[in-house]
Amino acid sequence: MSFDSLWSAVEQVGRHPGTGGYRRYAWTPEDATLGEWFAGEATARGFDVTTDRVGNQWAWWGDPDKGVAAGRPGVVLGSHLDSVPDGGAFDGPLGVISAFAALDELRRAGFVPSRPVGVMRFVDEEGARFGVACAGSRLLTGTLAPERALGLKDADGVSMAEAMTEAGLDVGHVGTDVEALGRVGTFVELHVEQGRGLIDLGRAVAVASSIWPHGRWRLELDGEANHAGTTQLADRDDPTLVLAELIRTARHAAHEHNCLATVGKLRVEPNGVNAIASRVTAWLDARGPAVDSVRAVAGAVEAAAGTAAAEESFTDETIFDAALRDRLVRVLGDAPVLPTGAGHDAGILATAGVPTALLFVRNPTGVSHSPAEFAERDDCLGGVAALAAVVRELAGPGAR
Ligand code: GLV
Ligand code: MN
Ligand code: MN
Repeated sequence: MSFDSLWSAVEQVGRHPGTGGYRRYAWTPEDATLGEWFAGEATARGFDVTTDRVGNQWAWWGDPDKGVAAGRPGVVLGSHLDSVPDGGAFDGPLGVISAFAALDELRRAGFVPSRPVGVMRFVDEEGARFGVACAGSRLLTGTLAPERALGLKDADGVSMAEAMTEAGLDVGHVGTDVEALGRVGTFVELHVEQGRGLIDLGRAVAVASSIWPHGRWRLELDGEANHAGTTQLADRDDPTLVLAELIRTARHAAHEHNCLATVGKLRVEPNGVNAIASRVTAWLDARGPAVDSVRAVAGAVEAAAGTAAAEESFTDETIFDAALRDRLVRVLGDAPVLPTGAGHDAGILATAGVPTALLFVRNPTGVSHSPAEFAERDDCLGGVAALAAVVRELAGPGAR
């Protein structure tokens, strides 16, 4: 099947008619539709579809257990299908669609893999619903404890356990899946670039070198609800003033420590135009080249808020396997190598010891986590060709 028909099959799923952005959150009906699409595409190709203990989906071309038995665990391509609120079309789906399209290209060409090759789809990469980034890969690899994950609540007070149960998962079974992971010899995620690196280089595809450390924190600021028209300024306990200070501090501290800091999500209660807020919840996202500097930003924000911040997730720096990276750079015609500040399941797998690579496809807007995120069709096809070349290299005759 062509890249275009794969693309058009999911293009409308979870798309908001007003904003044009995607709202594809973990364990919702939209997510289920995407899961059915994934399973359908895999089955149509005769691939063996399995769901691991977390709900991540795997589609195998070739028997992965034979691969393991022969000491040749498989080559897996994939990414995620969930989105941030009003996210773009490419962040996640591009990697899954390109994986199917690449294997189609190889099958058409009569390529016979010398080891199992798989396509996979991680659940809940963005953490838009429950707060923890890369929850699917963290649970899979054991860096997120199921007891903690299952108790996380969404904005409506629904727990992850309840959401998973509703989606048909057995929550008693959720946890590290050593068997599923053991089938992965090499993982390669293709992703739309989320910055301007490739535009500036004039190239369509790059290989990632590293991912910055990244933390997410939640701060609860309490105040006292009261009337906007009768409460004297001196009598107010207004948490939005603390919020303003916190946001300015995040910006200053990020500047000082050479980091990036964002307060992009807020909850104001009771959220009335003529009522002083009784409580504000603010989420801080901080990233930077070093763990200490990211933590310093969070510390400065905590000090400004006068309250401890709850750490929702923290990811140390990821350095991708250098030998694999260099090999793919060669296979892809001396592809450029770029670091990134964006988080990926590939980073979680790499940290868990799976030889992993991350490829980027040029994004002419340089914008991501927004409907303006984009990739030209030719560049997408370049990404498909890159993945096919990677599979030839890693799973071709005589591949190591
Ligand atoms: C995921 O896209 C992240 O970097 O937050
Ligand atoms: Mn994203
Ligand atoms: Mn992504």
